[in-house]
Amino acid sequence: MAAADPGTGILAADVHTPGQGNLLALAERNGLDNIRVANGDAIILLREMLAPASLSGLRVFFPDPWPKKRHHKRRLIQPEFIELAATRLKPGAPLHCATDWEPYAEQMLEVLSASPAFDNSQPDGGYTPRPDFRPLTKFEGQGLDKGHLVHDLIFRRNDT
Ligand SMILES: C[S@@+](CC[C@H](N)C(=O)[O-])C[C@H]1O[C@@H](n2cnc3c(N)ncnc32)[C@H](O)[C@@H]1O
Repeated sequence: MAAADPGTGILAADVHTPGQGNLLALAERNGLDNIRVANGDAIILLREMLAPASLSGLRVFFPDPWPKKRHHKRRLIQPEFIELAATRLKPGAPLHCATDWEPYAEQMLEVLSASPAFDNSQPDGGYTPRPDFRPLTKFEGQGLDKGHLVHDLIFRRNDT
């Protein structure tokens, strides 16, 4: 996605250092200079290191699904995170989520639809058809191999 959009600075956050190294190696191999990697928790990055209305978009692709009910509170897409994300996004900026875990997709749709700061880009208020610009990752491929359905959700920060 960084290669397809060289004029946009991409800030990638993960706690998994081998994944960070892999991304940096790929960026170097492809001669990309529009990627920066933040080593750590995306919540802390948003809360403590990014200014209000500083992001032109936010992508949350295949966040850990935490399938067990007692772990649901660990899921990233919760009302508190969405409220924080809303403060960091510019008006009109997209928040794009994708997951191969159906119950989490339902939670994402519920939480995002309930937020007054976001509007669903889909007029019917549902999921977004898989956009061509989102590449297939290894993780998504593994989900598809298991027969999982993948859902995309694209909401936009409104002016409220
Ligand atoms: C299921 S993997 C998906 C990876 C990748 N987005 C993909 O589509 O293949 C979830 C990733 O989220 C990262 N992660 C989980 N919680 C995080 C957090 N609070 N901040 C940053 N990264 C986090 C994990 O380290 C892991 O690499």
